Parts: sequence; structure tokens; C-alpha cells
Amino acid sequence: MERRRLLTIVIILSLFVLSASRELKVHSKYHLPGYNHTLAKILVEYSSAVYISDLTELFTWTCSRCNGLTKGFEMIELIVDVEHCLQAFVGVAKDLNAIVIAFRGTQEHSIQNWIADLYWKQLDCNYPGISDAMVHHGFYSAYHNTTLRPGIINAVKSAKELYGDLQIMVTGHSMGGAMASFCGMDLTVNFGMQNVQVMTFGQPRIGNAAFSSYFSQIVPNTIRVTNEHDMVPHLPPYYFHFPQKTYHHFPREVWLYHIGFGSLVYTVEKVCDGSGEDPTCSR
Ligand SMILES: *[C@@H]1O[C@H](CO)[C@@H](O)[C@H](O)[C@H]1NC(C)=O
Ligand SMILES: *[C@@H]1O[C@H](CO)[C@@H](O)[C@H](O)[C@H]1NC(C)=O
Repeated sequence: MERRRLLTIVIILSLFVLSASRELKVHSKYHLPGYNHTLAKILVEYSSAVYISDLTELFTWTCSRCNGLTKGFEMIELIVDVEHCLQAFVGVAKDLNAIVIAFRGTQEHSIQNWIADLYWKQLDCNYPGISDAMVHHGFYSAYHNTTLRPGIINAVKSAKELYGDLQIMVTGHSMGGAMASFCGMDLTVNFGMQNVQVMTFGQPRIGNAAFSSYFSQIVPNTIRVTNEHDMVPHLPPYYFHFPQKTYHHFPREVWLYHIGFGSLVYTVEKVCDGSGEDPTCSR
């Protein structure tokens, strides 16, 4: 009995591995940069550190979440919008040769309300300059209509003056991922910055199909990392039969799921196709 179970698990696992490598091959055909799990593990630590509310510890990079893979980070600017309860930072990670921008998501205590709100919200805002592109007003304004945007732009400019032309990596978790996406697009389109990459964790949908397709052309180096049981990436709802009318993820998702063998847990990565709404992945 035990042996049969083990065999089944091994077969399932090899199917996962096979399908994962198949997906990866599809990617290299389109010459997109690959998913780098080492980089993801570093960026998720930045996305996590930005939740720290002790600003002194954060500014001096001495917080409890600041001494793992992000050691040595040099903070340029910590931006807090008290009125809208938003927080972000910009700094330089010399080991990555990059300017890192991280956005905080929603605070724990308000997440329930926020999810309920997101579920009912319709596409309600035209993205300026692109016909048919609609986005979520709340996420759009959280980045574009608060003190975050000017703070970030100034900090990125001074980082470039101080350190030269580094890469720019924008990251965030949950709603922070939504803001990170708007920021990556803004830096590229409105400030002509090169070498911008966006990697988000558990990010909700932010716009319709027209917006998504524009996004993937403008910031092709964008990856959305999703965890198996995370709920937020499924929000707001996507209606398969009305893709033009509903929210649509921008392409390139990496789906992480965990397979347990007793005390051993393997994390499996699956890189999805370029549709942004691959039914074999998170949906
Ligand atoms: C992945 O990212 C790490 C950290 O930036 C880097 O050192 C490594 O060279 C990257 N790997 C590939 C294959 O690009
Ligand atoms: C921007 O914020 C101001 C003040 O909070 C508000 O009155 C205005 O409607 C907002 N504009 C947009 C486009 O969200």
C-alpha cells in the first residue's frame, strides 16, 4: 500500500516537472528573460521588510527582516503617506547592482474589508494615453495620486546621480504588487528609464486585457509570483467569457506550490504561458 502511494506521488511529481520544463521551453522561444528563483528570494525579503512600522529601524536597515539576503542595503528614501496609510522605500542593493523600490501592501487588520471591496469593484478608470485600457481606480490612485509617486521619482533620480545607471527592480506584495506594477510602467513610459524589471508576490489583477497587453510590451521583464493557496491573485474576478470587460492579469506568472513527503516539502515552480490567464496555473 505504502509503495503504491509512493509510486503515485513520484509519478505525479515527474508529471509536474515535465510540464514545468515544457513551459520553460515555450518561454525561451520568445526570448523572455527567465524566472530567477534566487532573485525572487531576495526580492521577497524587500517586499516583506517594507511592512515594518519602526521607521528608524527600517531607515538604518537594522530591522528584524533586514539582515537576511538584503544585508548591506543602502536606503535612499523612505516614503510614508500617513493619510492613505501607504509606505514604500527606494534604495541601492550593491550586490544586485540595482535600485530597489518596494511597496507595502494592506495592513493585516484591514485585509478582509479590502478583499470584499475588491471583489465588487468594477473596472472604473481609463489608463491615460492608451485607448481601451482600463484599470482599477483604487490601485491606480494609490500610486499616482498620493505622495508616493513624487517621493519615489526623486529618490530614483538621486540614486542614479549617486551610483550611475543601475538596473531598477520594483517589488511588492499583494496591493504593494499592484502599486509596483504601476510604478514600473510609469518609470518606463513617463521617465524613459531603461532596465526596469518588476517582480510581485501575490498580486491582484489591476486592469483589463488591453492594459495587460500594453503592459507586457512596455515592461516585458515582469513576473508575478503566486503561491498555491493565496487568494488575492484571484481578485478581482476574471470572467472567462468576457475577457475584454473584466480584469486580466498581465502575462508571466510563476506559480509556486508545495508537495510534502512527510517532513520534506518541495517547492515546485511552474512558469505559465504568455496569456496572463493560463487556466492550468493559478485559475
Ligand atoms: C539570478 O539572480 C542572482 C541574484 O541577482 C544572480 O546572482 C544570478 O546570476 C542570476 N542567475 C541567472 C541565471 O541569471
Ligand atoms: C486625487 O486625490 C484628491 C484628494 O485626495 C481627490 O480629490 C481627487 O479626486 C483624486 N483624483 C483621482 C484621479 O483619483
